[in-house]
This record gives sequence, structure tokens and C-alpha cells, in this order.
Amino acid sequence: MARKLTSGGKLVLASHNKGKLREIEALVRPHGIEVVSAGALGLPEPEENAPDFAGNARIKALAAATASGLPALSDDSGFCVAALGGDPGVYSARWAGPSKDFTGAMAEVNRKIGADPDRRAWFIAALCLAWPDGHTETFIGRIDGTAVWPPRGDKGFGYDPMFVPAGATATFGEMDPDAKHAVSHRARAFAQVLASCFG
Ligand code: IMP
Repeated sequence: MARKLTSGGKLVLASHNKGKLREIEALVRPHGIEVVSAGALGLPEPEENAPDFAGNARIKALAAATASGLPALSDDSGFCVAALGGDPGVYSARWAGPSKDFTGAMAEVNRKIGADPDRRAWFIAALCLAWPDGHTETFIGRIDGTAVWPPRGDKGFGYDPMFVPAGATATFGEMDPDAKHAVSHRARAFAQVLASCFG
């Protein structure tokens, strides 16, 4: 049995990424849990040195929960491209460098795909809920689609402008938040958090 969050309780969002914070806050808000970001509490960003999304999500959630004494929810996610063997994957943030240049990172992805006709791509999100006593619950969400070029739209963040989810024509960068939340990797993982740990 998964552990539940206490209704009316407080939850730390263990991320310093503005795009993710905006999306996770929108997902949690309707469920009667007060949220506070790790940045607002002055919590440091731990080193993400696990080889996979779930491992890095666990590192971030546990660090925030133990430092704050509150339950914490983290997100580790990335953009994966079939023709690149799943890269940039867990290195999605690192491909943008310290200046967070996602225009450059997207161009690099497109350059590396080159003439390969296989444009399949997907996003993965691992959401981890951790408690101060070290208990964790981790959930994975995925959305499949196509890597397109040139990038389109400025509504999202990261690699959103070069990703069209299967069955759509707009990129994530062109979609309103509700349309992205209807199908996104993050929303799919969050639906599992909700079913297991809320209420
Ligand atoms: P990390 O989980 O902090 O290592 O960073 C994940 C990186 O993956 C982000 O900085 C984004 O570049 C990318 N990413 C994750 N989720 C999304 C998304 O929903 N849209 C666009 N890019 C994303």
C-alpha cells in the first residue's frame, strides 16, 4: 500500500526549474495540498549522479524531504530521440549547458539526427514523492511523438518547440498548458501519484 499525503498538509516541490515548477504547481493546486518550492526554502540542489530518471528523481526528493522535514515531490525528466539511442535523455538539461541554451540544444539534437528518416522521440518524467523518514514512491510517465524541425512555439520550455506528440499537429511549444497537460509525460506520472498518494 502506497503511503498517503495528509490532506491540508504542505508539500515541497523539489525542483529549481521554472518550467517544471509552473507545470507541477498547476497539477497539484486543485488537490488541497499547499506547495512551497525548494528554492523558496533555500534548499541546495543535490548532484544528480544516478544513471536513470527514477534514480535522479529519488536523489532530489529525498534531499528536499530530509532537509525540510516535509514530504517532497521531485521531477526528473528528459527528451529522448530514437535515432540517438535515447539521447539526450538523462543529459537533457546538460546539453543546454550552464547558460540553459535550449535553442542550441535543439539544434544539436537536429544536427545529430541528420538525414536519418527515423524522427521518433519521446519525453519521460519520473516523479518521486519522499518523506523525511526516507520512504519514497516513484512513478514514471511517457509521451511518444516526433522530433520536428524547425522548432515552433514559445509557450512551453526546454525541448517543447521541437516535439509533436503522436496524433497532434502542434508542438508542445504551440500548445496551451491544458492541452499539454492532457497528454504530457509529467501529467501521466502525476495521475499515478494522485491515484496512489493523494486522498
Ligand atoms: P532535469 O530533470 O532537471 O535533469 O532536467 C530535465 C530537462 O529535460 C529539462 O531541463 C528540459 O530541458 C527537459 N524536459 C523535461 N521535461 C520537459 C518538458 O515537458 N518539455 C520540454 N523539455 C523538457
